[in-house]
Amino acid sequence: MKCCLAYGVAGDNMEITVSASDNINGTLILPMYEGVEEIPEECERGLPQGMKSQINRVLSDGDFKAKKKATMSLIGGEDGKVILAGLGKSDGVSVHDFRKSGAAVFASIKKVHGNDFTVRFTEAGVAHMAAFAEGMMLRNYSYDEYKMKDDEETEGEKQVRLTCSEKESEELSALVNKYRGITKGVHLSRDLGNCPPNDMYPEVFADMAWEWAKDFDNVDVTIINYEQAIKAGMGGLVAVGKGSSRKPCMVIFEMNKNVKGRCPVLVGKGITFDTGGISLKPGANMDEMKYDMGGSATVFGTMEALAQTGHEGKVVAITCMAENMPAANATRPGDVIKGLSGKTIEVLNTDAEGRLVLSDGLWKAGEYDPEFIIDFATLTGACVVALGHEATGLWSNDDDFRTEIHEAGNAVDELAWPMPLLPAFEKEMTDSKIADTRNLGAGRWGGANTAAAFLKQFVPNRNYDKDGEQITWAHMDIAGTYWGAKTNSMVKNGATGIHVRTIHHLITNR
Ligand code: BES
Ligand code: ZN
Ligand code: ZN
Repeated sequence: MKCCLAYGVAGDNMEITVSASDNINGTLILPMYEGVEEIPEECERGLPQGMKSQINRVLSDGDFKAKKKATMSLIGGEDGKVILAGLGKSDGVSVHDFRKSGAAVFASIKKVHGNDFTVRFTEAGVAHMAAFAEGMMLRNYSYDEYKMKDDEETEGEKQVRLTCSEKESEELSALVNKYRGITKGVHLSRDLGNCPPNDMYPEVFADMAWEWAKDFDNVDVTIINYEQAIKAGMGGLVAVGKGSSRKPCMVIFEMNKNVKGRCPVLVGKGITFDTGGISLKPGANMDEMKYDMGGSATVFGTMEALAQTGHEGKVVAITCMAENMPAANATRPGDVIKGLSGKTIEVLNTDAEGRLVLSDGLWKAGEYDPEFIIDFATLTGACVVALGHEATGLWSNDDDFRTEIHEAGNAVDELAWPMPLLPAFEKEMTDSKIADTRNLGAGRWGGANTAAAFLKQFVPNRNYDKDGEQITWAHMDIAGTYWGAKTNSMVKNGATGIHVRTIHHLITNR
């Protein structure tokens, strides 16, 4: 197995420490507010005179205006190098502005700045300082596993010191540590997504999960392989994956499984490559369909974030892994299949495959007595048409729960936008002439909504009780946000690792 994970490198080549000392090591990073024409007094500690006047000159001349996400590098001075970082106006400044500024600073770092940095804040609370560090850590990622690197290019480890007051240091350290753990989860999700599809296929994903779990006493991974999936009646997963030589599987993560009571259950769409199957996609940009396992990557990354931050509650994650290929033995448009739920599905388009694998994942989730179920999927091009790359589509059978997820997204600056789950869409997806459901809407309108309405048919009732209440469920369509989001400041290119932070926040703040 070729290892296509870079995150071990990406995350570990920068150490962020917290210090109450006045010393400045290496390049000084100064996050500043707009309208400041002179270095604030509380910031001056330990600053050499020459450096001070150099900074004051660019501030008073208006050469650096400290607009949001702006940076300016001062490297000619005799007393050392400086990076000025803009936070925008101090009025109403948010942790998001600090996070973005940290990311912008990281992106601006060049070889000349060396490997040591000291960050000196003015008028910033602990949460804001930690967010700045979080931004630096999140942006500290590149996927170069497949590039040749000569020794000269190999960078040394960066040391970043955040300076704060004595009484802030303990709290700041703890927060930075938490964000370090969460960032590992985000970077793992990105690594999984960025990995090329010849090296990332269902069995590889399963092996990685298996190997990963060995590092944690409190996580178990179960792999349901192809033969077992057939035996268990996972007709959706099997229908999608059977046309590939890389056979499908379901990978189930259980964290703190001995904790009593209900628990969150996360479900991921994991199509390691989506050709469309017999309903073959057009050629343009088909390479991007390597990201079609983004839902499973989100779920795996979230488990990593939770494990790294020592989460003590029970959490279950189910990833539905398959490669959607056209082949002599592939599912045809017109086939009728039956999955775990026992409901039949008329497959009218083999490119609407995500909902087929998820139908089994969602039904399976019911076995774990879920407090709630959330599925993540790069499910529809229609969702990208509706929301562009700026927001994830969010549907739920519970309005309060949908609001809670929307707010968790807002708390970490990952927008998930409410979308309608309407009876009319459900009707559209259940009026097949020959089966219980159909995997394609009647027309092309509202395609993201009809997909969500289809999924709802496979969300079980509590204890699978026919007359019982449906389990609280939300669906997040990340087709526009898992990659290609050019305005996401935490990401240069490739997979974004979106919603690892949202769901970590949701689960750990309940
Ligand atoms: N993986 C795609 C959705 C997708 C397309 C995500 C483009 C991101 C960018 C999904 O499996 C798919 O092909 N969906 C079809 C559904 C249709 C056949 C009902 C789509 O969106 O066209
Ligand atoms: Zn598809
Ligand atoms: Zn797909």
